[in-house]
Amino acid sequence: QQKTLAPTPPMGWMTWNFFADNIHEKDIREMADAMVATGMVEAGYDYIFIDDGWQGGRDNRNNIIADPKKFPSGIKALAEYVHGKGIKLGIYSDAAQLTCAGYTASLGFEEQDAKTFASWDIDYLKYDYCHAPKDSATAVERYTKMSEALRKSGRDIVFGICEWGQREPWHWAAEAGGHLWRTTYDVRDKWKNLSDQENAEGIIDILDINAELHAYAGPGRWNDADMLVVGLYGKPGPSGDLGGIGMTDTEYQSQMSLWSIMASPLIATNDVRNMNEPTKRILLNKEVIAVNQDPLGKQAERKVKNDTWNVFVKPLENGEVAVAILNRDGKSKNYSIKWAELGLDGKYEVRDLWEHKTVGKGKSWKGRVQSHETKLFRLKKI
Ligand code: DGJ
Repeated sequence: QQKTLAPTPPMGWMTWNFFADNIHEKDIREMADAMVATGMVEAGYDYIFIDDGWQGGRDNRNNIIADPKKFPSGIKALAEYVHGKGIKLGIYSDAAQLTCAGYTASLGFEEQDAKTFASWDIDYLKYDYCHAPKDSATAVERYTKMSEALRKSGRDIVFGICEWGQREPWHWAAEAGGHLWRTTYDVRDKWKNLSDQENAEGIIDILDINAELHAYAGPGRWNDADMLVVGLYGKPGPSGDLGGIGMTDTEYQSQMSLWSIMASPLIATNDVRNMNEPTKRILLNKEVIAVNQDPLGKQAERKVKNDTWNVFVKPLENGEVAVAILNRDGKSKNYSIKWAELGLDGKYEVRDLWEHKTVGKGKSWKGRVQSHETKLFRLKKI
């Protein structure tokens, strides 16, 4: 089998939900510094992804350029800076003439832009699909065109497909050269939409779509459940209302547990320069990250699914199994489960990856799960 550029789900920090297009190289450098200082890079968050809003049009040779007000030193200098800190750099474009936020995009300039990105030492491209025709044939064609251009660019560039909805990218995105693909509309800092009218998703809305797609994921091909909104607390910063309404630490911990067990990319978008202790505890939990980054590369299957309880099971490379138990109800409740109900026969030692200790031994578990809490366990056969 060919070696893939994304053998485990990519991890990093993305500009969008905190800054929207109000980005500046100074802030990104500060984020890079903070990612090193806080231990984010050491924990595995080794990409910075510049999202929409960096573009300043094209020069007289049609080369795409960065906005000189936002990136006075240029993208290549920024790449050099973050590379010096052990961080890779991602950039953003769109398979049409304009991006979602109305900036210059790559349609018709795929090879030229791929070469430009390679010349800047870019490591990742997030490629969006705003202002493009609705049918999936065109989407496949446009994404394939860019993935081929990236492959010809002379540099290893991971290709993130930012496409969702009725074109169901999980059916075609890997073949079109994508290493990951968004499965839903944009995440917001909220638990759940209260009506169908809301134009972005809470984490439970995303969960219910992404959880059903486990069969499509594997090394080099990931379902991307969008950014971790952990630590935004409804105060997104310069992005304005892109932050959402905010969640509790229990809910943020749930997102981290669920995104980890679903093998989604782990892409933070909080202000890494100003993280409180709960945010650090959630984002930097190495035992939880290890579940996400497990080399077997399986996305968990949701084996129990009712209005209150969701139970996820993810086989791990060393024969152990990760299990997540989510209480979706508005009230704290007791739960008990026999591992055999999940198809796990025999006896297990149960390690709680948030408590960092063994919490049971045997054929079953019972305990209290707070409202909107997710327990994350690692089961080892005994
Ligand atoms: C839509 C995407 O889903 C977002 O993550 C972000 O990239 C914006 N486009 C940028 O315009």
